[in-house]
Amino acid sequence: MKRDITSLLDLSKEEMIYLIDRAITLKNALREGKISEPLKGKTLALIFEKPSTRTRVSFEVAMYHLGGQVVFLTKDVTQMSRAEPVKDTARVLSRYVDIIAMRTFSQELIEEMAKWASVPVINALSNKYHPCQVLSDLMTAKEFKGKIEELKIAWVGDGNNVAQSWINAASRLDFILHIACPKGHEPDPDVLRLAEEKDNIILTHDPVEAVKDADIVNTDVWVSMGEETQRKEKEVFRAYQLNLELLSHAKSDAIVMHCLPAHRGEEITDEVIEGPQSVVFEQAENKLHLHKAILEWLVLSNES
Ligand code: CP
Ligand code: NVA
Repeated sequence: MKRDITSLLDLSKEEMIYLIDRAITLKNALREGKISEPLKGKTLALIFEKPSTRTRVSFEVAMYHLGGQVVFLTKDVTQMSRAEPVKDTARVLSRYVDIIAMRTFSQELIEEMAKWASVPVINALSNKYHPCQVLSDLMTAKEFKGKIEELKIAWVGDGNNVAQSWINAASRLDFILHIACPKGHEPDPDVLRLAEEKDNIILTHDPVEAVKDADIVNTDVWVSMGEETQRKEKEVFRAYQLNLELLSHAKSDAIVMHCLPAHRGEEITDEVIEGPQSVVFEQAENKLHLHKAILEWLVLSNES
């Protein structure tokens, strides 16, 4: 049956755990030089409307490792730039490729692509969500902390697409998510409403409260792609900068996460991102392994 990952809400708790564990297995297999090419002859279309280093390269390399191939498209080179409907593009691409990953502004566009494509569609980042990022970050959490459940994970800064995928994840998995955002920059109330039956998601305006005794402290840019013209007031974010003082409130063995790219001196200081608690490059690497798990699972389950 065809499955999509337009957001983490498309996955059950068991499926999320499966993908995380499978990614760890694939990482170990790569380290041991074991080669398996379950997607030989399969093709991934990447459609990117925003820049990317990690997500694009890790999806491409993941597909190559699995034996498949990739077609990379920017939206402006397709007829979508000349108003060909997404529903037509989805049905055409489904005749050529076995899976589509899309990075764009509008979450609705990705959902429309998924609705009309007969092949799986993956959200590779929208203004609303970044589901694959959070799945690979959960993989990193499991590697460093040995578990996910019962961890206290703090998010400080903007209540953005990555934060909103963390909320989705916390609505499925049993970790405590403590989010601290400045007033006016909280996550979308609709995203919080989707998780309202869970009491493990706590929203505050106090960064120290969020970080206190955390196992993982997470942050991201204050201005996401596409928000550059919004004239966001950076001063309101200053108290949410992840610096050594704020980090000192977390557990002494806490790890620091940032999905990258980072703006040193804004949301995180150089000392923290380069410091011993930072795992940002492990996070970046794990995108490769997690994307392999996703591609393998989605393509093979569409065949059965
Ligand atoms: N973390 C992440 O998605 O990075 P890119 O924008 O480089 O893909
Ligand atoms: N919140 C950031 C994440 C980049 C990977 C953005 O959307 O620009």
